[in-house]
Amino acid sequence: MTAPPLDPSAPLGVFDSGLGGLTVVRALREVLPEESIVYLGDTARVPYGTKGPDTVVKYALGCSKALVARGVKAIVIACNTVSAVAPERLRIELDLPILSVIEPGARAAVAATTRHRIGVLATAGTIASGAYPRAVGTLSTRAETFGQAAPLFVPLAEEGWTEGDVPRLAAERYLAPLAAKGVDVVVLGCTHYPLLRPTIEEVARRLIGPHVAVVDSAHATAEDTASFLRERGLARRKESPGTVKLLVTDMPRSFADQAARFLGEDAHDVHAIDL
Ligand code: DGL
Repeated sequence: MTAPPLDPSAPLGVFDSGLGGLTVVRALREVLPEESIVYLGDTARVPYGTKGPDTVVKYALGCSKALVARGVKAIVIACNTVSAVAPERLRIELDLPILSVIEPGARAAVAATTRHRIGVLATAGTIASGAYPRAVGTLSTRAETFGQAAPLFVPLAEEGWTEGDVPRLAAERYLAPLAAKGVDVVVLGCTHYPLLRPTIEEVARRLIGPHVAVVDSAHATAEDTASFLRERGLARRKESPGTVKLLVTDMPRSFADQAARFLGEDAHDVHAIDL
């Protein structure tokens, strides 16, 4: 039986393990202000980055099915850890388009490197998956990719502790091995890391040099989503601004308190759901 056609006026579904994916929602709002978005943060089970691939795939399926049940026309996986291990399985199990953040991040890195040496900061799960070197390898035969797990950046971003001695010391520890490899690009390969961008950039310039480029995938993902929706005839008509609906699996009040920082706009209306 063929599935009914997707409805361009339906919302986009976006999910992450928690708050960090709102950096992708923010970029989507800038690039596609007319699209409505249903965002799900799996706050009951965050972090994903320290868990094994089978667990992450299971959680990702739960999140995606919850979004499908809310009538979304496509899903943007905002989480790098999920994007590293789950897109194929989601595409097999769900009959709708699945976009993810690794390829756009890899493309931004390949575009920015002149020395063909790319450093990636990400969760332990993303680094262990090898997803970034694979994605870079499909785009460039010359570029080499060096990964560095940077787990402490996630709780620092969640705490709002994005500047000062503690994040600076963490950044020095994480960037030193990449500096030793001679990278000229550092990819922020995790949803949370763009919140620490000023600190990471300052340390990267000091340890690597003023030429270093720090890139993240949020904007490139939003641009990819825009092209995809246009090409498939799935873009919403520009008759009114899109809305954002925020769902979480736990702690809606504290999510609402912190969400504005990630999203860059008010976010008081947050609903808790069960998966
Ligand atoms: N969302 C995750 C990512 O982008 C970071 C937080 C987590 O570990 O769940 O990899």
